[in-house]
Amino acid sequence: MALSGHAVSLLRLLPPEAAHRWAVRFLRGAQALGLPLDGGPHRIAPRRLLGLDFPNPVGLAAGFDKDADAVRAAFALGFGFVEIGSVTPRPQPGNPRPRVFRLPEDGAVINRYGFNSKGLDHAERRLAGLRRRALPGPLGVNLGANGVSDDKAADYATGARRLAPYADYLVVNVSSPNTPGLRTLQDAAALRGLLEPVRAALEDSGPVARPLLLKVAPDLEPADIDDIAGIAGAGGPPLLDGLIVGNTTVARPASLRSALAGEAGGLSGRPLMAPSTAILGAFRERLGPDLPIIGVGGIADGQDAAAKRAAGATLIQLYTGLIYRGPALIRAAAEAFDTPPPPA
Ligand SMILES: Cc1cc2nc3c(=O)[nH]c(=O)nc-3n(C[C@H](O)[C@H](O)[C@H](O)COP(=O)(O)O)c2cc1C
Repeated sequence: MALSGHAVSLLRLLPPEAAHRWAVRFLRGAQALGLPLDGGPHRIAPRRLLGLDFPNPVGLAAGFDKDADAVRAAFALGFGFVEIGSVTPRPQPGNPRPRVFRLPEDGAVINRYGFNSKGLDHAERRLAGLRRRALPGPLGVNLGANGVSDDKAADYATGARRLAPYADYLVVNVSSPNTPGLRTLQDAAALRGLLEPVRAALEDSGPVARPLLLKVAPDLEPADIDDIAGIAGAGGPPLLDGLIVGNTTVARPASLRSALAGEAGGLSGRPLMAPSTAILGAFRERLGPDLPIIGVGGIADGQDAAAKRAAGATLIQLYTGLIYRGPALIRAAAEAFDTPPPPA
């Protein structure tokens, strides 16, 4: 059963948060009934990295399936890997509604969900259930911090300790703009202090080493990029196995046309493509060819996927493009990601 563009158009008739809720519910129901959806994951340009086998290079970005409710269905739509979360240690409701806004004229979304999460207990139950049967591709677990937490850094180690046994890779997300003070954890000293205990928690959590990735904001200054690249690329036992570049932006490009462009929160979708790809390229330049970087931000067609590859992405993820284009985008992005550009 193909999840057609019509279903996506129907969902867009609902207010954005309701559409999101219904999409997750529909997918959760479809997976419970064993409906084949699009029969994925697509097998296009499979690759092995981080010690994992990816049936294709296109992943579902964090934030769609925050509580691990629809992982199997996301693979069935075609994704080559799925990242759940962000999960916070304790459940929290997030910000007051409305907190998600579509900007259709711009192919964009602004969200200020503020880490609404059912918490670690719920995620652990869901993930333990999933693991009873093998998944068809890698599962990432993206960790967040509680808004009212006194020790946000410790929240990540707690999350890593609890969820590492169920994850193929873990992500420390210090780049969401909707939790006050969170993004200051991207400073070099704070970052080392945060990553060392997470790394230790991962080493304690079992015999299999789980790769650890850091998700950064697309709003970094060159000095921040140098600092983070220094930590990611440093010799000795590595603190990080890869980067995800990047999250939503707090910037508001002058080109935005929608009346909702002034809403507070993180902007995603088409206007994020150029700035997030530039930051990706800056990281790749500083890091050399080896460290895996997942490119995410604004992928709306095959050309965008190819541009992420050209800037140095090893894999890509998307979310907002799915809202406007539907699951057909997954195949288009996977095919284009692997097609060399025509000679100039
Ligand atoms: C509604 C919404 C919620 C999101 N929630 C999270 C989240 O909880 N954790 C996270 O790391 N990123 C979150 N993101 C960011 C996405 O994972 C992605 O980095 C960003 O949207 C850019 O990609 P896109 O332009 O393809 O959407 C969210 C994005 C959206 C649109």
